[in-house]
Amino acid sequence: MRPPLSRAERECPTVRQESHSPAPAAAAKLPSWLVAKVEFFLSHTSLVATPHVPEVVLRLGTEAVPLWDAVARKLGAANAKAPPYWGFAWPGGQAVARYVLDHPHLVAGRRVLDLAAGSGITAIAAAKAGAARVTAYDIDPLAVVAIAMNADANGVAVEASAVDLVRQDGAFDSSAFDVILAGDVFYDHDLAGRATAFLQGCRAAGCVVLLGDPGRPLLPRHLLASRAEYLVPVAFENQYTAAATRDDRHCVRATVWELEIGAAATW
Ligand SMILES: C[S@@+](CC[C@H](N)C(=O)[O-])C[C@H]1O[C@@H](n2cnc3c(N)ncnc32)[C@H](O)[C@@H]1O
Repeated sequence: MRPPLSRAERECPTVRQESHSPAPAAAAKLPSWLVAKVEFFLSHTSLVATPHVPEVVLRLGTEAVPLWDAVARKLGAANAKAPPYWGFAWPGGQAVARYVLDHPHLVAGRRVLDLAAGSGITAIAAAKAGAARVTAYDIDPLAVVAIAMNADANGVAVEASAVDLVRQDGAFDSSAFDVILAGDVFYDHDLAGRATAFLQGCRAAGCVVLLGDPGRPLLPRHLLASRAEYLVPVAFENQYTAAATRDDRHCVRATVWELEIGAAATW
């Protein structure tokens, strides 16, 4: 007989561990430097159903620091300037993904941008919810690999780009998008300020802007209206992110916020 479930297990959906999926045939046509990144990604992650968004499967790592070390050792220090954020599903991204899948009319038939996409969880959810076109931006080239591979694993089309939109100083054409999504962007002071200004520009141009956040101090709450709150399962040992194992999981509260129209540029 199974032992009784703990409170965390009762509240948190089960992570489904799946076998390693083979590299897609398309990888054979890639240049060698990209094949190395794809092979690294496939060999250091496992395909799981995302805890709070089981409709989306992601290849996730198990522990952040060993994964970061492996990036530096196998792909070189240039690829390890930042932690491997792409190897984990962050609470804010899980919350926005859940919200979009539960309210598909927000993105159906629309052109969606996922800012700071990491694993691509939010972009993939938007594509699954019927978005006409989804583009995911993340400055980490390994995240671009993760987004492409994870989109492939979910059978959806997501364009992935490493262009740094929040540093482009006005060159971005927000009329190319209807909806902007961003999960867990407000973890760094410089990024938070630039992202806020960028998102305000998109909102002023008419885009709907939805953010997911687990209560970070840098979140510009005075510009935001709460749309939903979720208890998102994460692992204690992985900086409060969901990983490929289900050990020591508990739930953190994450909120989906909408950037209000007319919000002044106050950052
Ligand atoms: C905490 S992770 C969140 C990832 C994903 N949205 C999620 O919720 O799982 C933050 C991400 O922001 C990315 N990032 C940092 N600065 C950025 C920038 N200027 N433009 C785009 N992405 C950026 C990082 O590479 C990282 O993948």
